[in-house]
Amino acid sequence: MIPENQNKALHAWQTSARYWDKHRDLITKMFAPLTSGLVEQAQIGIGQNVLDIGGGSGEPSLTISRIVGPTGSVTYTDPVAGMLESAQAEAARRGVTNIHFRQCSANDLPFETCTFDVAVGRLSAMFFADPIAAVREALRVLLEDGSVAFAVWGSSEANPFFSTVTNVIDRFLEGYPQDSDAPDTFRFAVPDKLAEILEQADAKNVIERQLDFRIEAAISFEQFWKLRTEMSDSLREKMGRLTPAQLPTVKQTVADAARKYFASGTMSFPAEALIVTGRKSAI
Ligand SMILES: C[S@@+](CC[C@H](N)C(=O)[O-])C[C@H]1O[C@@H](n2cnc3c(N)ncnc32)[C@H](O)[C@@H]1O
Repeated sequence: MIPENQNKALHAWQTSARYWDKHRDLITKMFAPLTSGLVEQAQIGIGQNVLDIGGGSGEPSLTISRIVGPTGSVTYTDPVAGMLESAQAEAARRGVTNIHFRQCSANDLPFETCTFDVAVGRLSAMFFADPIAAVREALRVLLEDGSVAFAVWGSSEANPFFSTVTNVIDRFLEGYPQDSDAPDTFRFAVPDKLAEILEQADAKNVIERQLDFRIEAAISFEQFWKLRTEMSDSLREKMGRLTPAQLPTVKQTVADAARKYFASGTMSFPAEALIVTGRKSAI
């Protein structure tokens, strides 16, 4: 049976799915450097069979399907039906035929031992119910010497795309229990934390690389505000707790704090992620 808190989290992702679908083009562009980092670190190439764990609205599966080409394949997984439907519809719209779709959790992968060359997860590892068990599962389904690679966010301070909004809202919600923006977004922000989990799960050659990049898109502050307040379940919930009178003040305060990231006329935030990779040892 799925524990209640996990059920609640998956339900929240189900609600988020429609917003991730709505903002898909922006999200694809903003987080493309994370996919490039994963592809590079895991050395993904033509003809490989790649597993995507927690593929959300379709990335990195869609990008990797182009890289592995018709002789390779991608197996997309996510436990949330709405996410899978959105990713599958987008693949069909693009005429992509080398992605297989399975609805499943990272902790219970319905695949044979020794199936994939590489397993990746972009911004999903922080939401795994039991990360060590999930990494063991990923290693189990990898071929001998196959690679696993996860992209997770660095610290909140190094990621103003998130903190510029949440710092302001949290000030207005003082007195309420503080649950930071998506409590688990920064779960692996502390250096080495995820790397140690890979080691505990028996991965070899574990490497953690810091990826500094910019989250950029040709959008205004208004569009950024809409994107952020729709995409995140915890922000949607917090916005619901503000009084109608507080809302315009909160938005204006965020606009003032975010002004420097829109100085060029479009959005450009500095960002920091960690890409953690490891290998399956000889059996
Ligand atoms: C922040 S989204 C990232 C989605 C996508 N990989 C991307 O980068 O756009 C996190 C994803 O993790 C998925 N997720 C949550 N719990 C999970 C679990 N236990 N196992 C695998 N995926 C999970 C969610 O359904 C969601 O699609």
